[in-house]
Amino acid sequence: MSGHFRALQEQGSQQQGSQCFPNYPQFSGFMKPCRFEGEVQNLEVQGSIPPEIDGTFYRVMPDPQFVPFIENDPWFNGDGNVSAFRIQCGKINFKQKYVRTEKFLRERKAQRALLGKYRNKYTDAVEFKVRSTANTNVVYFNGVLLACKEDSPPYAMDPVTLETIGLWDFNGQLPSLTFTAHPKVDPVTKELICFGYEAKGDGTPDICYYSIAPDGTFKETVWLVSPVVAMIHDFAVTENWVIFPIIPQTCDSERLKQGGEHWQWNPKIPFYIGVLPRRGAKGSDVKWFRAPNSFPGHTSNAYETADGKLIFDLPLSDKNVFFWWPDAEGGAPNPEQITANLTRFTIDPQSTDLDLPTPEVLLREDSEFYRIDDRFSMSKHAHCFFDVMDSRLGTDFAAIAPVMGGGHAPYNALGHLNVETGRYEKYFPGTKHFVQEPVFIPRSDSAEEGDGWLMALVNNYGLMSSELHIVDTRDFSKAQAIVYLPIRLRAGLHGNWVDTRDLGLSSD
Ligand SMILES: [Fe+2]
Repeated sequence: MSGHFRALQEQGSQQQGSQCFPNYPQFSGFMKPCRFEGEVQNLEVQGSIPPEIDGTFYRVMPDPQFVPFIENDPWFNGDGNVSAFRIQCGKINFKQKYVRTEKFLRERKAQRALLGKYRNKYTDAVEFKVRSTANTNVVYFNGVLLACKEDSPPYAMDPVTLETIGLWDFNGQLPSLTFTAHPKVDPVTKELICFGYEAKGDGTPDICYYSIAPDGTFKETVWLVSPVVAMIHDFAVTENWVIFPIIPQTCDSERLKQGGEHWQWNPKIPFYIGVLPRRGAKGSDVKWFRAPNSFPGHTSNAYETADGKLIFDLPLSDKNVFFWWPDAEGGAPNPEQITANLTRFTIDPQSTDLDLPTPEVLLREDSEFYRIDDRFSMSKHAHCFFDVMDSRLGTDFAAIAPVMGGGHAPYNALGHLNVETGRYEKYFPGTKHFVQEPVFIPRSDSAEEGDGWLMALVNNYGLMSSELHIVDTRDFSKAQAIVYLPIRLRAGLHGNWVDTRDLGLSSD
């Protein structure tokens, strides 16, 4: 490269920001940002989509609009780009649109990245009111689609057009500066159960728990204080209790001010599990139970036994799953050696002994993104569905490795475990395929638990494009339908299935 060209490139880079994503795994191969907005009608389908399936699968992926100016910016920091797959009468239409966050709009105007490090406002190029990327989950509630990121209130979107309505504070009722990306819908009362952590601002130990009636009216609001300022990414709810698992990734305000990372792995603190009465509680009613230091993943479900104990299932790892945020000495595990097993805690909420008994491992296979039949959420469940990595299934790792990119955990199959009977089966999508988070669609309102279809986005590394696989839970050996997208959707985080009747739409 000539000196003149290099000087011009550096000058351009300073003025406008680089226009080329850097050569890191999270920006390479299949993980290259997608950045597509638009729609494709009547996607190609191999096999047939059952006519009973009538609804929309929404999911969101972090997908940077502009090249970040932060070195080695993690995948989690990209702008939320929402995909909607509408299925009706055996046909499927695809639509995708970015959430118009403050960050997205201001960067588009400036034509370059303005947001700095993940959850560190001191590194931004401008001062933002709200730093949300809205990139973690999309949840339908009370007529709007909520695009969530746990450091901010959600953004509301029109569930049909995917137009952004705006930042959503529930008509001024939202008491917290933050809103979890994993709110839970009670299938009986239809309440939305939520919380925010660092709820009074970055580095604060405050947690705000709240529940919202189906009409959008806030019911419970309880402020409590966490024993550590640390990440509470997901949680669990039972009929009468709320459970807060704390990931030992801690935040320090001084580190933020010095331009450091929001999170630092702390191997010296326990894995805290907070238990709070779901209704009528005060902040002082919370009990912080303790288990040995470990990394809690996405919760599967929680429910109460007849004798008042709480059963709490989640994948658990003995290593720092977020290896890109190391400990104070810079130590981090080798990503290839990080695994998580489905683990069951039994908690007596009346106990005065806060050290929990050793949990039971329900499945010793590397697995995550647990989903259940949501009709059984918060009550006793048997069936769970998830992503699993089983290197014995025949994946052609040599073919995938050069093009898969990185920055996220790879899974090569969908699992279906009956935690009551132990029956376990896997759906293997192909030798050059990895899976993203599944959703479960019941066969009918009256279908037995777990009877229906599992749907998941699949990365096809042979074609370098995405597919949606639909598997009948009565025959997990093959896909009932494979839907081909003409584009590649990089790894997303979460999504949900919404029945057309729940959207309040007529079939058209
Ligand atoms: Fe999540």
